[in-house]
Amino acid sequence: MSKKIIMDCDPGHDDAIALILAGAKNSSLDILAVTTVAGNQSVEKNTKNALNVLEVMGRGDISVSVGASRPLIKPASFASQIHGKSGLDGPKLPEVPSLKPTQSYAVDVIIETLKQSEEPVTLVATGPLTNIATALIKEPSITQYLDSITIMGGGTFGNWTPTAEFNIWVDAEAAKRVFDCGVPINVFGLDVTHQVLATDAIINRFKTIDNQIAKFVVELLEFFKSTYKTHFNMDGGPIHDACTILYLLEPSLFTMQHTHIDIEHHSALTYGTMAIDLNDITNGEKNAYFATAVDVERIWVIMEDILKSYSDD
Ligand code: BDR
Ligand code: CA
Repeated sequence: MSKKIIMDCDPGHDDAIALILAGAKNSSLDILAVTTVAGNQSVEKNTKNALNVLEVMGRGDISVSVGASRPLIKPASFASQIHGKSGLDGPKLPEVPSLKPTQSYAVDVIIETLKQSEEPVTLVATGPLTNIATALIKEPSITQYLDSITIMGGGTFGNWTPTAEFNIWVDAEAAKRVFDCGVPINVFGLDVTHQVLATDAIINRFKTIDNQIAKFVVELLEFFKSTYKTHFNMDGGPIHDACTILYLLEPSLFTMQHTHIDIEHHSALTYGTMAIDLNDITNGEKNAYFATAVDVERIWVIMEDILKSYSDD
């Protein structure tokens, strides 16, 4: 039986790859809805990108709903230096997508989709946690419909400040609410995502796959590799967000440690830092499963197989 998921995202190169992996034809995941949030770019641009990606995937059957245009408290901040002006620079995509978003607000779509599902749902969040925190504030009872919240965010080090990762730093107040909500949270932070680097060797492997989706992914990864070289001097783009989906498809790819996680949101110096109590110093409630190790080689094999499963007709 397929696992029901909602994908709350800000595409974004790695968000796009997460969508592609989750929404393949024989996927064991069933995407009930895609919701967008301000993060890598404005929510308008991220929504346009989500629609274009679903179009390339041939998955116009999946709805896209527009969410928060800024964090709960702070003004919006974007990651143009990593994802480009469009939020998805690299591949040539239509200025006006042929698919359209729903009329309903993403937060309401999250709440209604959860209430209507006959099975527990996994909320996958690959952008700032604004929509999810807002849904929890508006309708706290939604926790009963969730089997987990699976996020890309945080880590024991930062990429936006010395100690904070971008998704958590954009809206630390939202992240704090999500980590305190009582639903188990699977966390894929920089400790593992920075190991899953799409280097030239990996991109060349994907180049041998002869279909439109693989070509699209190669264009995404080429662009991502170039900005990661310029800004972080890394030899490939980490496919951060895709780790959430790869875990749901094949949990044995990751080692998870059950632990207590809290989010710093007061200090100017460490705003957005994830405090991960891996040594159980606080004896705090274990509210999260934090990924500590990853089988990188097996990830590329699985990803190759999924890309091959897309056909052009
Ligand atoms: C996260 O920030 C975004 O730029 C990526 O899409 C990913 O979700 C990595 O820090
Ligand atoms: Ca993202």
